[in-house]
Amino acid sequence: MYDPSLRAEKTLVLCEDGTHTLYSKEFDEPYHSTKDGALHESLQKHVKPALKLTKAKKKLTILDICFGLGYNTFATLYWIKKEHLSTQVHILSPEFDEALVRSLDRFEYPVEFESIKEIIQAVAQNLYYEDAQFKIEILTGDARERILGIKEKVDIIYQDAFSPTHNPLLWTREWFEDVRACCREDSILTTYSTAAAVRLGLYENGFYLFVHRAEKMRYSTVASLQMLEDLEYIDMELKKIRNPNAHSMRDADYPTIKSSEI
Ligand SMILES: C[S@@+](CC[C@H](N)C(=O)[O-])C[C@H]1O[C@@H](n2cnc3c(N)ncnc32)[C@H](O)[C@@H]1O
Repeated sequence: MYDPSLRAEKTLVLCEDGTHTLYSKEFDEPYHSTKDGALHESLQKHVKPALKLTKAKKKLTILDICFGLGYNTFATLYWIKKEHLSTQVHILSPEFDEALVRSLDRFEYPVEFESIKEIIQAVAQNLYYEDAQFKIEILTGDARERILGIKEKVDIIYQDAFSPTHNPLLWTREWFEDVRACCREDSILTTYSTAAAVRLGLYENGFYLFVHRAEKMRYSTVASLQMLEDLEYIDMELKKIRNPNAHSMRDADYPTIKSSEI
């Protein structure tokens, strides 16, 4: 179970898509699904659906929860460059493991990230990067606190914390209330979690829920503050009737995890 004294203990893991991730002893969990693969998961569950749903926008602000190895942030830049998109992107990403971010210039990233090598180096060195098209800001510290200081309204949220079982405070109804406060009226959220408790937490904060399916991976969830066409809608009222015991996760259920520990 969660043990902050083990933060520095991580081991390199090769995923089934040939890309690398880490195993966190602190959270007793890998940073990515080793079956879906770090890069594949990032592109299929977050980057591609999010950019497709927001393709009409020329400027995007993305909240990347949390930075970790930076796959979601870097895959966003990789994909935009690969597709020759002119979208301007500002990424805000909380992360309390600053030492991890500072070590990323030595991480074994896939060849796809070769074209953004300098950006990776700058982020590792400065926790910040900016050019004419991209701006990346790592918000060091506890995401629960840092999110309260975000002034920008975001278009996309990559909700990619460790699992609800191992990192519950980033999946509660109250957490999603703070996420919701950063949103525009048409923001969308992507997450690998398909848990009823997570979907309920989002639903109770005004999100519509959808199933997202992609090639060679398990289905995932897209949440949106507006109804979306062409996605498989989840009727949460029906889910509640069919599963009356399901409820959203609440901060009060995790009183033993103090914010000083995270
Ligand atoms: C599953 S990993 C994120 C993977 C990342 N999105 C990627 O693509 O590489 C979860 C990250 O959340 C960070 N984290 C967990 N709880 C946090 C908190 N309360 N505040 C800030 N960061 C947190 C961990 O240190 C870890 O780096």
